[in-house]
Amino acid sequence: MFTPTPERLMYEGKAKQVYATDNPAEIVIHYKDDATAFNGVKKASIADKGVINARISAFFMDRVAAAGVPTAFLRQLGPRDQLCQKVEIIPVELVVRNVVAGSLAKRLGMQEGFRLQRPLLEHFYKSDALNDPQINEEGAVLLGFAQAWELAAMREYSLVVNDVLRAFWDGLGVELVDFKLEFGRVGGRVVLADEITPDGSRLWERATGRKLDKDVVRRDLGDLGDTYRELYRRVFGESLA
Ligand code: TMP
Ligand code: ASP
Repeated sequence: MFTPTPERLMYEGKAKQVYATDNPAEIVIHYKDDATAFNGVKKASIADKGVINARISAFFMDRVAAAGVPTAFLRQLGPRDQLCQKVEIIPVELVVRNVVAGSLAKRLGMQEGFRLQRPLLEHFYKSDALNDPQINEEGAVLLGFAQAWELAAMREYSLVVNDVLRAFWDGLGVELVDFKLEFGRVGGRVVLADEITPDGSRLWERATGRKLDKDVVRRDLGDLGDTYRELYRRVFGESLA
């Protein structure tokens, strides 16, 4: 077990905290129960959300690692705490889309639900102050946010992650609409960092179209805690203790 203490707190985000460990090459990510949407404009505390997201993220990080994607995740230390490699976060977020939804639908004035022939990769500059504006690869390189080879690796890994996640959710009757990934640099290579959770994904129940992700909060569609507890049951075949 890891006990988070205030002296070790390095960074606090909207849904997670990052703690230093005795090893300078490793950090602990602590998952909180806070849910925010629209860059913190909407806030809620959802009982058990941190525990659910931590276990789901650990589960997917192990699966994508087995598929050949290097990740910063090392192991789960406790229900909300993960030991990870310390990385330098690349300030370019990658969004993978299989179905038109969210900001893409809004930007192009389209209805949600159009199924893309193959995954669409979009890049966003990671900046809370600017609300993560979209950027293209050329801009990201010319502005020094990432090197071309790093973006190429990020894109390649994102497609592998998409294949792994999509196959998994398909097996549960859930459509993976889109998701966001973050990457970091460590030891001269690019690794998948941050999280893979329903906070950063869109998941639609195939049979009903019901949303099983954070859009429940963004769009006031019901109780996110109930939704996440149900997702947890489906993923792990047991209820949250
Ligand atoms: P978007 O449609 O709002 O661009 O979101 C695409 C996907 O990325 C969606 O699954 C939610 C996720 N996402 C985050 O995890 N964090 C963010 O800050 C944003 C804007 C999106
Ligand atoms: N992740 C962002 C927030 O927490 C935006 C969003 O997911 O809607 O505010």
